[in-house]
Amino acid sequence: FCGGFRAAHVSIAKTVSKQLINDAIMNNDFLKKLEPQHMREMVDCMYEKVYGEGQLVIQEGQPGNHLYVLAEGLLEVIQHGKLLGEMRPGTAFGELAILYNCKRTATVKAVSQSHIWALDRQTFQTIMMQTTQARHQEY
Ligand code: CMP
Repeated sequence: FCGGFRAAHVSIAKTVSKQLINDAIMNNDFLKKLEPQHMREMVDCMYEKVYGEGQLVIQEGQPGNHLYVLAEGLLEVIQHGKLLGEMRPGTAFGELAILYNCKRTATVKAVSQSHIWALDRQTFQTIMMQTTQARHQEY
């Protein structure tokens, strides 16, 4: 789904992080309802991004193009200018705009330098479609 190139270059960081990403997905009320096969493909297609202190990962009100899992660092969630809470490593976020096609419900900002796994909306949709098609072909 995300191509053999990326798969052939799976980093050591990714190998170490797979468990963390899996746990983060399972801890998310919305993502944990996905099928195990979907989750495995999502984990395989995620790539790492680094955000500097103060950088915005998500902006409230914008369309959403990625789903994320925080691997390292600290994030804060802000809505209408108010601090809603903090996110620590092992947290999946940005799922609402991807799953429900809504605008970003909150701003997410890096409090310190943060390492974040990202999945493109397009890749997410391809994963969902291809496995559904494969299942239809069984019948
Ligand atoms: P999304 O709306 O795509 O983008 C902003 C993300 O912040 C949202 O998905 C959730 O993952 C997360 N989020 C929204 N509201 C809260 C909240 N009250 N506490 C923690 N995280 C939140």
